[in-house]
Amino acid sequence: MADDRGAAVVVGVTGASGALYATRTIAALLERAVRVELVVSDYGRRLLRDELGDAATIDRLIPFLTDRYGPGVGAGALTIHSNRDLGATIASGSHGCRGMAVVPCSMKTLAAIAHGLSRNLIERAADVMLKERRPLIMVPRETPMSLPQLRNMVLCAEAGAIVLPAMPAFYQQPKTLDDLGDFMAGKILSALGFEHDLYPSWTGTAAREPR
Ligand SMILES: Cc1cc2nc3c(=O)[nH]c(=O)nc-3n(C[C@H](O)[C@H](O)[C@H](O)COP(=O)(O)O)c2cc1C
Repeated sequence: MADDRGAAVVVGVTGASGALYATRTIAALLERAVRVELVVSDYGRRLLRDELGDAATIDRLIPFLTDRYGPGVGAGALTIHSNRDLGATIASGSHGCRGMAVVPCSMKTLAAIAHGLSRNLIERAADVMLKERRPLIMVPRETPMSLPQLRNMVLCAEAGAIVLPAMPAFYQQPKTLDDLGDFMAGKILSALGFEHDLYPSWTGTAAREPR
């Protein structure tokens, strides 16, 4: 497996449903000794608590991740930035990093990135990824989608982002919500160029008998 230790990755968490995808992605990066630069919007913080419980607060995130995913998360480093701090390191293209995932990505933040608004740190860091031609993985979640939302995804894809919707597959016969979280986190890690074994590769037949 490639040595990813010490790589830096920005993770933006916004107020779309799917907080589990965010925590599994952050944990999987930390397990690979990645330096995670985390920014969570106000509604992202709300969705973390609403969907994962009161323990999933930003100031207690490492204990939460350790309880849920195990001590392996201790291999990495987590830096938390305020979404209001446009002077943070990750607001500049001079700050080296492997790429960024916005997971989950609300339709509001999707629209802002599509139009280069850079009003907060998540939007600005995403804009930096696009201008520096670094991987920007956007994980939108909404259904159904309006025409403006679909057009905003096209704009992001045209600008170089990878639009990776929160659409877990079922060929791997998931049994738990964590299996779905593993699948999406694995897709995001792959898009960022990390090797992983978060889900089995398709071999031509389903891994297990369907229930
Ligand atoms: C419980 C809850 C669930 C939501 N789910 C979604 C969602 O799945 N997708 C979405 O685009 N917005 C969703 N929203 C709306 C966004 O949170 C809202 O547009 C917010 O302004 C997004 O801001 P942010 O992108 O800065 O986090 C949800 C809001 C709440 C309170």
